[in-house]
Amino acid sequence: MTRFGPGGPLRGTYTPPPDKSISHRAALFGAMADEPVPVANYLDSRDTRSTLDALRKLGAGVEEDGHGAVLIRGVGLRAPLEATGGPLDVGNSGTLMRLLPGWLAGQPGGVWTLDGDESIRRRPVDRVAEPLAAMGAGVEARDGRLPPFTVRGAALSGIDYALPVPSAQVKSCVLIAGMLATGATTVVEGAQSRDHTERMLRRARAPFVRDGLRSTVSRVDQLELDRIVVPGDPSSAAFVVAAATLVAGSRVVVSGVGLNWTRTGFFRIAERMGAALLGKFEEPGTEADDEPVGELDVAAAPLAGTVVEPDEVPLAIDELTLAALLGACADGETVVRGADELRFKESNRIAAVVNGLRGLGADIEETADGFAVRGDGSPLRGGTIDSRGDHRLAMLGAVAGLASSDGVEVVGMDAAAVSYPGFERDLARLLG
Ligand code: S3P
Repeated sequence: MTRFGPGGPLRGTYTPPPDKSISHRAALFGAMADEPVPVANYLDSRDTRSTLDALRKLGAGVEEDGHGAVLIRGVGLRAPLEATGGPLDVGNSGTLMRLLPGWLAGQPGGVWTLDGDESIRRRPVDRVAEPLAAMGAGVEARDGRLPPFTVRGAALSGIDYALPVPSAQVKSCVLIAGMLATGATTVVEGAQSRDHTERMLRRARAPFVRDGLRSTVSRVDQLELDRIVVPGDPSSAAFVVAAATLVAGSRVVVSGVGLNWTRTGFFRIAERMGAALLGKFEEPGTEADDEPVGELDVAAAPLAGTVVEPDEVPLAIDELTLAALLGACADGETVVRGADELRFKESNRIAAVVNGLRGLGADIEETADGFAVRGDGSPLRGGTIDSRGDHRLAMLGAVAGLASSDGVEVVGMDAAAVSYPGFERDLARLLG
């Protein structure tokens, strides 16, 4: 158990850890390339280590310098991939579980089983199994929907696929498989989700076109990638931004943070609630190949409730628990709508945030598709919160503790290492 007392203020400059989503993609695309791809600022965390381990097992070379520089020696898009020594272990990583099968599905004759920890075994894979089967791959999952997940590679055909759930992971899986399929493969999203895969496809010179919510990739033989520099993770930075917003007297300059429009939904929500956030955000709808990086200047400010609409949800999907915490400390009601997908994360995050924050004194309830939380502008009382192995809940508990009147005990704080091993050290430094 780790205790986070009411503290602060947070002051100073801060660089968040490297982006988790982009690190996974950099390693995977590097493994699919023919020439070695140097990756700078690769995230050293449990999840992104699972990706490197899986790629090594498949035959890619991975050389690490121990300071974030990783050289991926790829095997090419259509490689005789190896799979020795039992299942590919994705650990806790939903991104690896959903993206890697896209590549494996296009390798005729290959058979791989992907498995992971207890949390991953509760998370659905039918969302990727269905389109991959429609493209021609063989797929098998426990009860038809849960890991372990077996993929039998085949000669794939391109499809037109309307995403039944708003998910960048599913979109990415189908687009990756699309590079190996005959003809064109189109994915249509109901609402825009993070677009890191699309940017990576363009950078790798794959034939890719985006038209509104339609993304189309065509068969390609070879990927050409230069050095990839991973920006700071806005989802990790969001915990520090929330803490600096809530703890009186705080002022933090966040540097080197990714400001891709499809990832900064939480910052826009926080601003709408009154957060004092200065930064040059990327504009929506950009067709850039590169990931924008910048600086955010955040100071403590009083907050008011807001409504988060379904279209905003994919743009802030990993930060919605933080929106709940801001809502609990704001004046008025905060409602998050259209957020069913939160039930399928590392834990059921609707149940977890409602029970967790209620235990700390918040007036919060579950709704049909999200939650509603009411505050009067005063701090949370505090108490105990159990991360239940979910990294983002552990970090939420820590920030809640700093912003509480009595402090918060977090059970299972070590889960933070899934995405952000240095979280406690970074907080301690800003708290001086
Ligand atoms: C991710 C996409 C999101 C997000 C996850 C990382 C990605 O999942 O929650 O942490 O890297 O593509 P969904 O796309 O399934 O919502």
